[in-house]
Amino acid sequence: MKLVELNNYEEISEYAANIIAEEIKNNPDCKLGLATGSTPVGLYKVLVDKYNKGELDFSKVKTVNLDEYKGLSKEHEQSYFYYMNEHLFSKVNINLENVNLPNGLAEDETEECIRYGKMLKEVGERDIQVLGIGENGHIGFNEPDEIFTKRTHCIELTESTINANARLFEHKEEVPKYAYTMGIKEILNAKTIILIAYGEKKKDILKKSLNGEITPATPASILQLCKNLIVITQSK
Ligand code: GLP
Repeated sequence: MKLVELNNYEEISEYAANIIAEEIKNNPDCKLGLATGSTPVGLYKVLVDKYNKGELDFSKVKTVNLDEYKGLSKEHEQSYFYYMNEHLFSKVNINLENVNLPNGLAEDETEECIRYGKMLKEVGERDIQVLGIGENGHIGFNEPDEIFTKRTHCIELTESTINANARLFEHKEEVPKYAYTMGIKEILNAKTIILIAYGEKKKDILKKSLNGEITPATPASILQLCKNLIVITQSK
């Protein structure tokens, strides 16, 4: 594991974006695993800036996202498709046929998990997987549990996650109760994993995840087993 401790959010975003930018330059048809949440917003901004300067070409880049709320359409402002479109897809020359997220409106939950898992298998090992971390240690939407779930599944969100994400919705009742998420084995299928964590609320859970027991009760603790994990966080 490589631990990179930086001074502020801007430096964290820049550092993470530079790793991705180098990958895209060296490997134009690279496969990226992307994350949502407030933490990677700065990273996407840096990538868009680089694209606007003519430094990056996304035309052959393929992306897969970690998760999506069940019940939200692509057009819903809090859906992860909307987020990705807003922060990255609509701002660069990525081919929308090369981007993948679970379909929040899929009629059949089981079928949707099978479809997404199959797609992930076809894409194979990603070059880079970006991850944030939930306040309860979740990665993607793999919530604390008694087991690590390997494949894509639909999960009931915990009260802690609903509360943490309620800030983005007008009323807490609007936060979806379920979400689709890549499973742990699928998340780990990447040459490099970049975990970014910023803010007071993430300090303790990051420490516990990186140094504590490897347990599904702290899903991010599984990352201790990654060969190539880069943790980018703040120094104080
Ligand atoms: C969300 C997402 C995660 C994200 C995490 C932290 O619920 N499902 O992929 O990493 O929670 O989000 P934030 O960066 O907003 O703290």
